Amino acid sequence: ATHKLLLLPGDGIGVEVMAEVKRVIDWLDRRGVASFAIEEDLVGGAAYDSCGQPISEEAMAKAFAADAILLGAVGGTKWANVPYEDRPEAGLLRLRKDLQLFANLRPAVCYPALADASSLKRELVEGLDVLIVRELTGGVYFGEPKTITDLSDGQKRAVDTQVYESYEIERIARVAFELARTRRNKVVSTEKHNVMKTGLLWKQVVSEVHGSAYEDVHLEHQLADSCGMQLVRAPKQFDVIVTDNLFGDILSDVAAMLTGSLGMLPSASLGGVEELSGRRRALYEPVHGAAPDIAGKGLANPIAMIGSLAMALRYSFGELEAADRIEAAIAGVLAGGVRTADIYSEGKTRVGTSGMGDAILAE
Ligand code: NAI
Ligand code: MG
Repeated sequence: ATHKLLLLPGDGIGVEVMAEVKRVIDWLDRRGVASFAIEEDLVGGAAYDSCGQPISEEAMAKAFAADAILLGAVGGTKWANVPYEDRPEAGLLRLRKDLQLFANLRPAVCYPALADASSLKRELVEGLDVLIVRELTGGVYFGEPKTITDLSDGQKRAVDTQVYESYEIERIARVAFELARTRRNKVVSTEKHNVMKTGLLWKQVVSEVHGSAYEDVHLEHQLADSCGMQLVRAPKQFDVIVTDNLFGDILSDVAAMLTGSLGMLPSASLGGVEELSGRRRALYEPVHGAAPDIAGKGLANPIAMIGSLAMALRYSFGELEAADRIEAAIAGVLAGGVRTADIYSEGKTRVGTSGMGDAILAE
C-alpha cells in the first residue's frame, strides 16, 4: 500500500530535522521497502507569517486526508508578541484537538551506548524500554469550571476541575492493552484512587476493559506517586504505563531524563478509528521544541524526528520491518560512536544534523 504522509516541518530546528527524515523516506521508497505519497505544508510561526494563522484551513484538510502526520516543532522568539490565539503552539493544539488525538505515546528507550548520559546509574537504565501512554484530551487541563475569582476579603480563589468520563478511560485503556501485546505484555495503570474520584473510576474502568478482552495481558495498578518513585528506583520493571493527562505529563518527563537527551525522544498521538477507512488518526513528532538557541546552525540531533517516522511505520502503516530497520540503524550508529553535540562525549565522532542523517542512511 502507498502511505499518505503529511509533513509539517514547522519552525526552527523542525525544518532541519525534517530534512533528514525526508532522506530516510526517499531511501525507503527507492529501495521498495515502503511506498509513500508525500504532502507538505506549514505550521506554527511559519504558517502565521504566510497566512496569518498558525495552521491554514488547507493544511487542516490535508491533515484529515493523511494516513499519518509527521510534525517537526513549532515556536520561536520571533512570534513572542503575536496574538495569543495565533501563537505557533496553537497550530499544534488545533491539530491535536480537531483530530481528537486522545492517546499520547511516549517511549523512553535507553540505548546502551548512551546509558552514561542518563540521570541514573548505567545498570539501572541500560536496555530500558518503557512506553508511557498518556490520556491527552481530558482531565484537569480541560475540565470545567476553570476559573480565578476574587473573594470579598481581597483573597483570590483558583479552580481547576478534573473530569473523566468512562468512555475516555475505556478507549485509552484499549490502546494500552493493544500496545502491550506487541511488546512485553505488561501494563501498569496509575492514578490516585485513594484520594480522587476520577482515580477510582479510572481503576475500575481499566479493570473492566482488562477483564472484557485483555486477560492475557498482565495488569497492575499503582498509585501515581509510587509509580514516580518506582520509575527512578527500578525503571526496567515497566513495559507500558497508562495514565491520565496530568500524571502522564509529569511521568513522561521523568522517564525522558532516564534516557539521556531531549534530541533522542520521539512521540505519537493517536486518535479514534474512522468508520469508513478503518484507519486511526495519528500525529508523530519529536518531544523537543524548535530550539531557537541552535536553529539554523546544522547542529540539531535528528534522531527524535527519525524515530518518529519509525513510530509512524510501526503504528500507522504496519511496516514493522522498516520500523525495526530504522531503529536498528539508530542503535548501530550510536554504538559506532557517532554523536551530535547534544549527546557528544570525549573520544566520540562529532557530527552535525546532516552528518547524523548520512550515518543513519549508511547504517
Ligand atoms: P526545546 O526543546 O526547543 O529546547 C530545549 C533545549 O534542548 C535547548 O537547549 C535546545 O537546543 C536543546 N534541544 C532540543 N532539541 C534538540 C535536538 N534535536 N538536538 C539538540 N539539542 C536539542 O525547548 P524550549 O527551549 O523550551 O522551547 C523553544 C521553543 O520551542 C519555544 O517557542 C517553545 O514554545 C517551543 N516548543 C515547541 C514544542 C513542540 O513543537 N512540540 C515543544 C516544546 C517547546
Ligand atoms: Mg510536559
